[in-house]
Parts: sequence; C-alpha cells; structure tokens
Amino acid sequence: MSTELTEPAVPPPTEPPSAPSRRTFIATTTAVGGAVVAGGLIAGPAALGTETGAVAAPLSGRVSLTVNGKQHTVTVDNRTSLLDLLREHLDLPGSKKGCNAGACGACTVLVDGRRVNSCLTLAVRLEGAEVTTIEGLAPGGEDGELHPLQSAFVEQDAFQCGYCTPGQIMSGVGCIQEGHTGSKDEIREWMSGNICRCGCYVKIVRAVEQTARGK
Ligand code: FES
Ligand code: FES
Repeated sequence: MSTELTEPAVPPPTEPPSAPSRRTFIATTTAVGGAVVAGGLIAGPAALGTETGAVAAPLSGRVSLTVNGKQHTVTVDNRTSLLDLLREHLDLPGSKKGCNAGACGACTVLVDGRRVNSCLTLAVRLEGAEVTTIEGLAPGGEDGELHPLQSAFVEQDAFQCGYCTPGQIMSGVGCIQEGHTGSKDEIREWMSGNICRCGCYVKIVRAVEQTARGK
C-alpha cells in the first residue's frame, strides 16, 4: 500500500492583497524590533524618546485630600497606596500593614464614609477625598473621649496583640453605618474581611453589637 503524501485537494486560503501574511508580519516586526533594540543600544534613550517624539508617562502625581479633617497636598509616586501615604508620608501609623494584598483588613480606613482596604487603594486617585483613620475616629482627638466602638472594644476585651484592632474598629464603624448589624451572624458576615490571628472574633462581634444597640 502506497504511503505517498499528496497535496490537499482544497486550495490554501487566499488573503486580500493588502493584508500582511503571518510570515510577512513576523518578518516585519522582527526587523522593526531589531532596529529599535539596536537603536537603543547604539544611540541610548535619546533615540527612543526625543527623536521619535515619545513622551514618558509621569511617575508621580499630586493629590489633595483631607485626612482626619486636615487638608494635605502631596506629590507621591503613582504606585503609592493610601496605606503607605498614611504611614510613611503623613506620619499616621495607626492603620496596619498585614498582608498588603487585600486579604486581612488590618489597613481598613474610611474613604468618603465607606470602608476600604487602604493597601489596595492608590493615593493619587483620591483627589478631594475625605479619609478617616483610627487616629481621627475619637471625637475628642487623641487625648479626648473615645469613639463608642473603641470603648466597646475595651469593655469587651476584644483584642489580644492589638495588631488587627485599628482595622477591626474602622470596619466595625463602617458595618454599623451600613446597618449590617441585625444579628451576630450578620455582623460576622459583614466583618468577615477582617482577620484576627488571635481569634478574638466572639468579643469583636459583641463590641460591634453593643455599639450598634447603643448600650
Ligand atoms: Fe490591607 Fe491586609 S494590609 S488587607
Ligand atoms: Fe491579635 Fe487580632 S488581636 S490579631
């Protein structure tokens, strides 16, 4: 039996005259890429920027926002998170960096009244925003009267090491403002983004419930 291969009966698809074939596309892009690389190596950045008219994106941005009632205007790297802005630029280390990836809630703050993970929030996107951190929660300031939820955390002994506590309290404030406090289960559900490695969950829920009931 013959095993000789024959050409397929169906003719290969034709392409419109103006469309580049895969082969010419690869050949063209390889040549252009090589020229760019060669240009960069030989002539340096000027060959890629000035002569081609390309404009580099700005690496930093200016943003004006209010933090705990105080106006700030700062210029930061575009990649700076709100958490790093607070801790490293504004000297507000109360918001904690746990995972730095949106998984633990230790960095929770309020932005325009809504709770957010500040580690996942870009500072330069907060033009005009109102940010509240744990440092700005107490109505009497740092030396004054505590916020009712702060008092409830103390009364309920709702912490051990305290690392998660600022995030738990800010999230608890958000949870109460949102009205997600109809039952312990509901509080647990809406506080589930805040992890406590010390396992103080029962007392944290009690503190939120106590504050929501105004007791
Ligand atoms: Fe932001 Fe963990 S540090 S969620
Ligand atoms: Fe230690 Fe929550 S009190 S992690």
